[in-house]
Amino acid sequence: MTRIFSGVKPTGHLTLGNYLGAVRQWVAADQEPDEALFCVVNLHALTVEHDPARVRRLSRQAATLLLAAGLDPQRCTLFVQSHVDEHTRLSYLLECTATDGELRRMIQYREKAAKSLGAGEGVRLSLLTYPVLMAADILAYGTQEVPVGEDQRQHVELTRDLAVRFNQRYGHTFTVPKATHPAVAARVMDLQDPGSKMGKSHESGAGIVYLLDEPGVVRKKVMRAVTDGGDGVVHDRAARPGVANLLDILAACTGTAPEVLAEGYSGYGALKRDVADAVVELLRPVRERHTELAGDPGAVEAVLREGAERARGLARPVVDRAYEAIGMLAP
Ligand code: TRP
Repeated sequence: MTRIFSGVKPTGHLTLGNYLGAVRQWVAADQEPDEALFCVVNLHALTVEHDPARVRRLSRQAATLLLAAGLDPQRCTLFVQSHVDEHTRLSYLLECTATDGELRRMIQYREKAAKSLGAGEGVRLSLLTYPVLMAADILAYGTQEVPVGEDQRQHVELTRDLAVRFNQRYGHTFTVPKATHPAVAARVMDLQDPGSKMGKSHESGAGIVYLLDEPGVVRKKVMRAVTDGGDGVVHDRAARPGVANLLDILAACTGTAPEVLAEGYSGYGALKRDVADAVVELLRPVRERHTELAGDPGAVEAVLREGAERARGLARPVVDRAYEAIGMLAP
């Protein structure tokens, strides 16, 4: 049995990048209720300026979409982070394990902090400590594997360092986890800006396919994707990032290697049409199921309540043990 944990942050609408980079892999991984845990990590949505109503709405939508994408609550544990106190409880102990320097070195922190400062905004302290809370998310469950996008690699590395350090200082307490990445399309790039990830927080939506986009909108976005100068269709991520991204997306949809797919095209037009068709078909069942589920919010809430209860039962003993190991009196 392999314990798996992953999280999705409700800071924007879920995208094709989230789906191909992470969620689809989760669906394939869900097996037994206490093997795979998937969490809407809503506390992580508070590290930058946020609108409470929007976070609430996006959290519910993310949970609904995960179910629509095929996560089966009978076979995995789906829950909301803020419903399980163990995450913040453990986070403090890990703050006492991590150093200021190692958190300031995190690439995502440096990028986001620079952006906030550039915009004349303050940087929330939680933006700096956020990887520690993420480590707590993971370590509270004795997680072995963390299926995430490539951009989260550094945070999982930090989690490993903290687990090892804690164990060395206070005795074996945490399982040391590792990140896993899907072979294809771990990184779907923005259709308008193939140098950057198709993230939910990108400013303009033109290069981002959202899971709930109407088919017509998906087609328009794919047909307007930027391609590169140069002749013919080849798969070359460095020299032809736009075309490579389209081929990677098609590869992820069809299961055929991108280099092989490239041989079948002489021009961008046909490639884009096929990518658009493949993405529309990929997302169709997810959208349909989402509409159904959104019509029954009580059912989704019940799933989340049950998930939180199960998660609490798993995390509680691990975190209690950590409190004792670090020197807190047993209550
Ligand atoms: N940091 C992740 C992201 O931005 C979300 C996340 C939070 C997460 N806690 C996690 C992912 C634990 C995996 C495991 O996408």
